[in-house]
Amino acid sequence: MEPRPLAMQVPRFAAPRLLSPSRTVGMNHMKFFIDTASLAQIKEAQDLGVLDGVTTNPSLMAKEGISGEERVRQHYVDICKIVDGPVSAEVISTDYEGMVREGESLAALHPNIVVKVPMIRDGVKALKHFSNKGIKTNCTLVFSAGQALLAAKAGATFVSPFIGRLDDVSTDGVRLIEQIRTIYDNYGYATEILAASVRHPMHIIHCAEVGADVATCPLSAILALFDHPLTTIGLEKFLADHRKAAAVKA
Ligand code: G3P
Repeated sequence: MEPRPLAMQVPRFAAPRLLSPSRTVGMNHMKFFIDTASLAQIKEAQDLGVLDGVTTNPSLMAKEGISGEERVRQHYVDICKIVDGPVSAEVISTDYEGMVREGESLAALHPNIVVKVPMIRDGVKALKHFSNKGIKTNCTLVFSAGQALLAAKAGATFVSPFIGRLDDVSTDGVRLIEQIRTIYDNYGYATEILAASVRHPMHIIHCAEVGADVATCPLSAILALFDHPLTTIGLEKFLADHRKAAAVKA
């Protein structure tokens, strides 16, 4: 196949995506969730003043040593006391009845709980059930546009494409976010695109460029957004000049 002429090769992030007028109405900010079960990290992120919610999963709970049904449930309540925003709590069951039972019980813990359901057949059925009952959901382990379309059709509140794990297997995770954005905008699906498996600050920037509604991030990726050497140098110079001027006046 002939290579495309240079002028036709559009760099992926060369220009901002044009959003349809319907998408710009009522959209005021990209949400940042923290992807951890660590109460200390959740508090630290909350103190930054830019946190909108929390996502957890069974691996993150295990990492914090949280096990046993009652401890897990109490941990979700503790998280809800720190952050006033959606808190994803994942079901462990993989059958429809089990997911419904677990999800309803988790949702009863706090109004901010979002029931996290895996992208499997029974999971999609459960999403539809929760959606009919007004229970918020997050469809997790999404790796394709087709899966994201199913989640939206079932009425998921959030869909979680795992961009870092796609990058790990030489597939473009951010490109999937872009595809889902196009599909949801084509039909006006209200399901929010929650970019998950975010690993570093450039993932966050690229997700913002292609219109993800939410990025759920490790604390390290959020903190990295603050840093620029020219900010540090510039501030040092401002303060040094201020001190010099003050010394002359004295
Ligand atoms: O939100 C899903 C996320 O926790 C997965 O991240 O880094 O394990 O791929 P990771």
